[in-house]
Amino acid sequence: MIFDLTEDHIMMRKMVRDFAEKECGPGAEERDEKEEFSVDIWKKAGELGLAGVTFPEEYGGVGADYISYAITVEELSRVDASVGVTISAHASLCANPISLFGTDEQKKKYLVPLATGEKLGAFGLTEPMAGSDASGTRTTAVRDGNDYILNGSKCFITNAYYADVYVVTAQMDKSKGNRGIAAFIVEKGMPGFSFGKKEKKMGIRSSATYELVFEDVRVPAENLLGQEGQGFKIAMQTLDFGRIGIASQALGIAQGAYEQAMKYTKERVQFGKAISEFQNTQFKLADMATQIEAARLLVYQAAYLASQHKPVGKASAMAKLFASETAMAVTTMGVQLHGGYGYTRDYPAERMMRDAKITEIYEGTNEIQRIVISSHILK
Ligand code: CAA
Repeated sequence: MIFDLTEDHIMMRKMVRDFAEKECGPGAEERDEKEEFSVDIWKKAGELGLAGVTFPEEYGGVGADYISYAITVEELSRVDASVGVTISAHASLCANPISLFGTDEQKKKYLVPLATGEKLGAFGLTEPMAGSDASGTRTTAVRDGNDYILNGSKCFITNAYYADVYVVTAQMDKSKGNRGIAAFIVEKGMPGFSFGKKEKKMGIRSSATYELVFEDVRVPAENLLGQEGQGFKIAMQTLDFGRIGIASQALGIAQGAYEQAMKYTKERVQFGKAISEFQNTQFKLADMATQIEAARLLVYQAAYLASQHKPVGKASAMAKLFASETAMAVTTMGVQLHGGYGYTRDYPAERMMRDAKITEIYEGTNEIQRIVISSHILK
């Protein structure tokens, strides 16, 4: 498949690149060092429309396609992958399920402020005993009059603490397995809803990752997303789209690391010439460029299918699998090409390598992506 990016895509890339380089680049190292989430960057990204790229204009979004969204997350992650995942988790994992499965009232109340960037969103699926086995959720929801009462906890939740709106899954009837799970829209500040441990991470250290704790949290019945028992399928479909975001993040990290390596190897002189003149360097740069192009085609193909409202499960899993392994390979080569300097925090290469690793893990480990892909191709 050959992609002709439209004028709109090219303008989007330029706008997001300018924003990323001006607003996200300068403090990226310091935020990484201090593990500091930037509310300021999130607010500015929202003002530019980056919180709601794909959502309809009537619900506060920009009404652009998924390729524009992929470009947005790619360009942010090229400079700072923590900002990339903030936008991706917000848009793909919180606003998108509300857009796909919410009632008109839910969309007006929650999607509009999420899409305009007034509110930040998060997604609570993972639990200490339910990671890859997402249907093993132990958080419970019990109907009580006009409310559901939630008890339990969620872990590794991106954007938590700072987010205002959470899409959360809970088990209503254990005997029904995944068909007993329901999804709810939970607001920060609901009595009994609090935050536990802040994770200290290897990479994406300036993105927020916290535990969610639910102690007799009363969630109004109108905040049920979809139907009781539909929660697992809602989560799986959410992840089908979400993986386009993570694939785009991985692509952006790889692109950023490649550009840094290109710059460094042209400047670094050893044995009397720039190290870019050695064939070893040239072959590494050639491999990096080739892998990135291949990843980009898979990522944009998945985004294209999403824009066409075609099934994306296989394409997004392939894109996430390939782009994340590309990010890991390219950033590792990037550090190697920087030599000893690549191992220090004087250059962004090592941050990019640390950031790349998570893309092979979250929104389904790459082992899970292989399960998803094989289930599609063996159907
Ligand atoms: N769309 C719709 N329905 C789906 C589906 C999909 N993509 N995938 C599965 N289903 C349905 C199946 O059709 C089946 O329906 P029936 O019960 O009606 O037959 C049901 O769901 C159960 O399917 P499986 O038997 O395949 O389910 P499973 O328990 O074996 O799990 C899995 C499948 C692929 C391993 C799944 O659990 C999975 O994707 N796990 C990984 C979870 C994950 O990605 N977590 C990431 C957390 S979010 C995160 O990381 C965010 C962040 O920080 C940025």
